[in-house]
Amino acid sequence: MPANPATAAASTQDKDPAEHVRQQQRDRLDGLNESAFEGGGGDRIEKQHAAGKLTARERIELLLDPGSFVEVDRLRVHRCRDFGMDKKHHPGDGVVTGYGQIDGRQVFVFAQDFTVFGGSLSETVAQKICKIYDLAMKVGAPVIGLNDSGGARIQEGVASLAGYADIFCANTLASGVIPQFSVILGPCAGGAVYSPALTDFVMMVKDTSFMFLTGPDVIKTVTHEEVTMEELGGALTHNRQSGVAHFAVDDDARAITTLRQLLSYIPNNNSENPPEVICQDDPERRDDVLRTIIPTNSNKPYDVREVIKPIVDDRHFFEVQSHFAQNVVIGFARLNGQSVGVVANQPQVLAGALDIDASDKAARFVRFCDSFNIPLITLVDVPGFLPGTRQEYGGIIRHGAKLLYAYAEATVPKLTVILRKAYGGAYCVMAPKHLRADVNLALPTAEIAVMGASGAVNIVMRGELKGAKDPEAKLKELSDDYADKFQNPYKAAELGYIDEVIVPENLRPRLCQSLMMLKNKRDELPPKKHGNIPL
Ligand code: HXC
Repeated sequence: MPANPATAAASTQDKDPAEHVRQQQRDRLDGLNESAFEGGGGDRIEKQHAAGKLTARERIELLLDPGSFVEVDRLRVHRCRDFGMDKKHHPGDGVVTGYGQIDGRQVFVFAQDFTVFGGSLSETVAQKICKIYDLAMKVGAPVIGLNDSGGARIQEGVASLAGYADIFCANTLASGVIPQFSVILGPCAGGAVYSPALTDFVMMVKDTSFMFLTGPDVIKTVTHEEVTMEELGGALTHNRQSGVAHFAVDDDARAITTLRQLLSYIPNNNSENPPEVICQDDPERRDDVLRTIIPTNSNKPYDVREVIKPIVDDRHFFEVQSHFAQNVVIGFARLNGQSVGVVANQPQVLAGALDIDASDKAARFVRFCDSFNIPLITLVDVPGFLPGTRQEYGGIIRHGAKLLYAYAEATVPKLTVILRKAYGGAYCVMAPKHLRADVNLALPTAEIAVMGASGAVNIVMRGELKGAKDPEAKLKELSDDYADKFQNPYKAAELGYIDEVIVPENLRPRLCQSLMMLKNKRDELPPKKHGNIPL
């Protein structure tokens, strides 16, 4: 055995690159010091560590149950002969692929290896990733991509672009069949961003991960705009502004623990139910705190997450996309051990009004839950759609329609609670009975109407107001009358649109009972190739 395998390896590589690769493979099988031959070699691994990043294999070790990883295609190499590439081979090329377990569940994983040509995507890398997708689709198990890549491998030209297109196709065909997760752990440039965008959840690490189509240098050349990597495509940019990412975490290790947590709510494929856990929290628990969270003055804000927590098991709410479109809150929780997706208007931000981003955020989440048999709990407190030219020009009609479409199409159990306001079009959107919700509840504080009192009176009682001796007093009188008649849940309950008006502390028991009742729900859509959601 050589005293320093890395030095010995370097000299054989110069003499005969092919023999060098074969020797590396033999050394592995002989159980020689593996780390000296990992990825792009010791120096690059050190550079990776110095940048605060783990290597591809270290990430996989952290992600999977100990000892469960089985590597596939460890000995594959690229086939490029240009730019002296025939002399530069690293077994496995720029990605580590395989399968293993998370909490005893089968998953497939690929981790791009930045120490090998910057994790860039060669034809071989693409074929390795597609092989993993084929296997995952056959057995119905999630795919987790750990991304750290400089994009298309420049030396391979169109073969690399073809590789990307093959991956995009695999992502698309797998969508809605197996869950797909992307963890961004370094730069992701060019084609490297579109595969994550096609997956269900994107997680980014603050300060070390970036996503962009074209980097700052190209932007400066083309548009003369100066922007830093962080501003252009950092974790907070994509979590707060673009909505491309769903989570922003502090480091590689936290990304992986967050991913494991997320996976615990989600089944392995679209024909399984989400994993159930044994519930230690009494499904009959009545929490008096719920009586005090929603202010009686309907114009006062509150944090809807404070309503969600006392309702769900162990008061644990796993929020998704917490930085983006904060006027709507989405996330996972459990009720009596069963996984649920929660969608709630957030009165603390924009009074909970729905806008373009909130509609997109909620619609995509509803569709994810529906794809993977996760029941939906919708908590409604919404004054309407956000008015204004910015919203209209931006296409709020089209974006709001996505949410309508997603709720109407969803066949999973749908449970809706109107906490306070449910006005106008927003009532129609937020999973009412008319969009095939199964259980519709309201608190006594619910206000269900076409619009608020003064707006309504000013339109329909214009004549009476004009002729009044004291228009202000008249407006108040008519508004109070309108509020008595319309701003409550009872008219909707009389019409059967609300099944039951309940006190807040009964929310948890009633939602748990309803979910149990709906356990064997069967629902279908009319036969079609696919619908045409207003994208
Ligand atoms: C081949 C690449 C590469 C690439 C990086 N490397 N990107 N090799 N093809 N695309 C190599 C570098 O040459 C270097 O090799 C090593 O990886 C590490 O890269 P560094 O630049 O030293 O690292 P860093 O400073 O951290 O910068 C990382 C980076 C930068 C921001 C990703 O490398 C970069 O800008 N790369 C190019 C990004 C890009 O434009 N990709 C093509 C996109 S087009 P050595 O041997 O010197 O250490 C695309 C089209 C697909 O993807 C479209 C499909 C829709």
